[in-house]
Amino acid sequence: METTAGGPIRRSTADEALAAELAEFAIELAEGAGQLARAGARAGFDVCTKSSATDVVTEVDRNVERWLVEQILNRRPADGILGEEGAERASTSSVRWVLDPIDGTVNFTLGLPQYAVSVAVELNGVVVAGCVYNPESGESFRARVGHGAFLGDVRLFGPRDVDLARAVVGTGFGYDAGHRAAQAQVVARLLGQIGDIRRLGAASLDLCAVAAGRLDGYYEVGLNPWDYAAGLLIVTEAGCQASGLRGRGPGEAMVAVAGRELAPALFRALSELNADL
Ligand code: IPD
Repeated sequence: METTAGGPIRRSTADEALAAELAEFAIELAEGAGQLARAGARAGFDVCTKSSATDVVTEVDRNVERWLVEQILNRRPADGILGEEGAERASTSSVRWVLDPIDGTVNFTLGLPQYAVSVAVELNGVVVAGCVYNPESGESFRARVGHGAFLGDVRLFGPRDVDLARAVVGTGFGYDAGHRAAQAQVVARLLGQIGDIRRLGAASLDLCAVAAGRLDGYYEVGLNPWDYAAGLLIVTEAGCQASGLRGRGPGEAMVAVAGRELAPALFRALSELNADL
């Protein structure tokens, strides 16, 4: 059973059954959408920009999101939806879906095989299940709250025990040039305290990489809920710690995750280096 500082979280049998059903549907959605994205990558696509010249979107992102919305509404017409490419529907059930049709769109446009479909599902405002699917590698990361995290059928337990000086930490940068310059200064100072840094280009997969022990930690400022909702559940269900700055919870201001041994030192360093946030 999942526990918090306040004690175990109790869910009704009905909620448990619904969460299990939603978790299966999330996998079906992410993997189905992933096949569409992969086919789109091979067929060729137009690229447009969004918030800045470096924030790109393709017709494949939009088609995949449209497909996801259709699937959800066909099966669960009362559910709410929040999607990166504009899908927004209020929920008249207790359920809302948080969708990133292609996380790592820049990688997708370059032909780099590090992108994913991210599907998270909330029940009464709490993420209860998620799936992050990389259609190029075929890796399907999934979790249901209180039931662990898995890569396919293999249970995930997070990274090795490591101290800050040896830790390999992933990060990412926003699309606004001013923010990126500030983020670069933080990375420059953090590099002197850690083992090494990685910038892989898809936040959802970065979170899953920590769950799978491929990175010791990961942090990013300015993510959107569709980037992290599913991955954050997966990494915490793998037994990792998650935080924002100065003891706040993870969110748009900061998502930081790490294995239990590394977490206190990494979160402290990030809080000090981002004193202005
Ligand atoms: C982006 C990726 C990237 C992260 C950016 C995100 P998108 O998502 O996850 O790794 O650094 O902050 O916006 O735009 O490719 O869906």
